[in-house]
Amino acid sequence: MELPPYRFGAPVDPPWFCDRQRELGVVVDRMEAGIHVFVLSPRRYGKTSLIRRASERVASAGGRTAYANLLLATNEAEVATVILQAVLRGVLGPAGRARHSLESLLRRLRVHPSVSIGLDGAVSVSLDPSLAAGRWIDVVADAVAVLHQAAGHRPAALVLDEFQVVSTIGRTGLGGAFKALADGAEGVSLVFAGSHLAVMEQLTKGAGAPLHGMGERLVLDVVPEEPMVAYLQRRARTAGKRMGRSTAGLVYRLADAVPNYVQQLALAGLEAAGADVEIAGGHVELGLRTIVERQASTFAQQFEALASAPAQQRTLKELARRPTASVYAKAFLDAVGVANANAVTTALHALDGREMVVRKDRVWDVADPFLRRWLVQE
Ligand SMILES: Nc1ncnc2c1ncn2[C@@H]1O[C@H](COP(=O)(O)OP(=O)(O)O)[C@@H](O)[C@H]1O
Ligand SMILES: [Mg+2]
Repeated sequence: MELPPYRFGAPVDPPWFCDRQRELGVVVDRMEAGIHVFVLSPRRYGKTSLIRRASERVASAGGRTAYANLLLATNEAEVATVILQAVLRGVLGPAGRARHSLESLLRRLRVHPSVSIGLDGAVSVSLDPSLAAGRWIDVVADAVAVLHQAAGHRPAALVLDEFQVVSTIGRTGLGGAFKALADGAEGVSLVFAGSHLAVMEQLTKGAGAPLHGMGERLVLDVVPEEPMVAYLQRRARTAGKRMGRSTAGLVYRLADAVPNYVQQLALAGLEAAGADVEIAGGHVELGLRTIVERQASTFAQQFEALASAPAQQRTLKELARRPTASVYAKAFLDAVGVANANAVTTALHALDGREMVVRKDRVWDVADPFLRRWLVQE
C-alpha cells in the first residue's frame, strides 16, 4: 500500500518528520545527561513528534525511556496511574516481558496497583482512587525510582506530555509537587512537554513559578520555511506529483507555517490537483476552501460555545480580520465594542485559555488559520 505523502493530526515519524535536528540534539543530550527539560509550544507545532524521536534515540543507545500522556488525567490518582503505567511499559518493553520481571518491579512500589496484561502484552494498571488520592506523589516517586533502577548506569528519561494539565488539578495545581519530585529525581531526566504557553510559562518562568529554574526551557517554534518547503516538494514527488517552490511557499504561508496545518493544506492541495501532475497555486486555494467547508460545522460549534461571552466572539472576529499588537488602542476597543482595556484583557485571556488565539511577535491572531478563514468568510 502506498504511504500518504503528508500526515497531520497525530505525532509523526520519518518520512513525515523534517528538520528539528538542533532541537532533537538538545533533548537527546539532556535526556542522556539526566537533566530536566521543558518543551513548550502552542498545540500542533510538533512537540510530541520531537520527543518521540528523542526517546527513540536514547533507547536505541541503551537508555530507558517512558512516555506518559497526561491529557486525560483529571485528578491526582489519574496522574499517578498514567505515570506508573508508562514507566512499567517503558521498562518492560512494548510486548511485556516475563511475569517474573514485572513482579519484581511491583515489589518496589509502596502503593500496590491492580495490574492486567492485554492481549498485546501491554501492562495496564489501576489504583484504588481513595488510596491514590493521598499518596499519589509516592506512586510517582516510586515509578521514577523504578525507571532509574531499570536503567542501571545508562540514561533514563520520563516524558510527561500535555503537562499543562497539572495546573488545573487540585486547588492550586500540582506544580509544587512536581518540583519536589524533580528535585529528588536523581539520575532521571524529566521531560515536561506542554502546549498552552501561558499556563506552561506560569509553571516554569519567573521567580514565583513552581518549576522555575528546574531545567532547560526549549520553546519550539515552527519549522523554518526552507526545510519545510523542501519537505513539501520532496513528498509531492513520492506521490508522482510536482509542487513548485512558490506553490510550496504559498502552502506554508496560508497555513501560518504551523507544521500540522502545512501538512493538512499540502494534502488538500494535492487532492484538489486530481489527475494533474503539477500542484498549482489554484489547487492550494481550492484545497483551503475544501478544508474550511469540511470543518465549518466544527467551527460553528466552537463559535457558538462562546455565545455567553459576546466580547470574546467579537474579539475573535476582529482578530480574524486584522491581527494586531494594538489590542488596547481605541480602534480595537471600538471594533470589539467594549468600554475599556480590562474587557479586552479578559476576553483575550479566555480565548487564550481555549487555545483559540495566539500571540506571536507581540501580535495577537486567531490560532487556527482555517478557523480564521471561516470567520472572515462568514
Ligand atoms: N518535524 C516535523 N516535520 C513535519 N511536520 C511535523 C513535524 N512535527 C510535527 N509535524 C506536523 O504537526 C502535526 C502535529 O504534531 P505533534 O507532534 O502531535 O504536535 P504537538 O505535540 O506539538 O501538538 C503532525 O501530525 C505533523 O503534521
Ligand atoms: Mg502533543
